[in-house]
Amino acid sequence: MNIGIAVYSETGNTREVAERIRRELENAGHEAELLEITTAAGRRELAEIPSVEPYDTLCIGGPVHHLTVAKPVKLFLEAIPSLQNKKVAFFVTQGQPLSALGGSQAMAFLKRAIHEHSGSPIRAGIVHVSRKSKESEIRRVVEAVVESAG
Ligand SMILES: Cc1cc2nc3c(=O)[nH]c(=O)nc-3n(C[C@H](O)[C@H](O)[C@H](O)COP(=O)(O)O)c2cc1C
Repeated sequence: MNIGIAVYSETGNTREVAERIRRELENAGHEAELLEITTAAGRRELAEIPSVEPYDTLCIGGPVHHLTVAKPVKLFLEAIPSLQNKKVAFFVTQGQPLSALGGSQAMAFLKRAIHEHSGSPIRAGIVHVSRKSKESEIRRVVEAVVESAG
């Protein structure tokens, strides 16, 4: 499988998880590439919209901002064409220790947006970066994405 991992990250937490996903996918015999979502004009516009078409399967990851998924991830989802026939695993990272403080809302948003693009959403999980269980949460997210790639 050829897997694209679209990621937005400001302070490195989400990129760290995405990098681990990439390494584990490669260890499992897949081709995997990080697709960085970058912004211009603060967070209001995307500098570049990574193409998702070449990939069999996708993974999308982003941070929670203001109780939902960060705006650049929303802009990315608005900008991409159809996700038809693609499995799309998704995850978020968040600073607060409780999913109710943005993580759950962000995951619900991503699931809906992937559905609206005719993709098949696969929930990989939430990483709470301030929790002691951060490392085991990262491992669960990585495993879920590797499993989704088949
Ligand atoms: C502008 C901004 C808003 C944030 N809002 C929330 C929030 O509502 N809930 C939360 O749990 N964490 C919030 N955070 C913390 C980030 O979700 C957390 O640090 C995340 O892991 C950052 O990912 P990154 O390092 O990939 O940018 C916020 C961070 C920033 C910069």
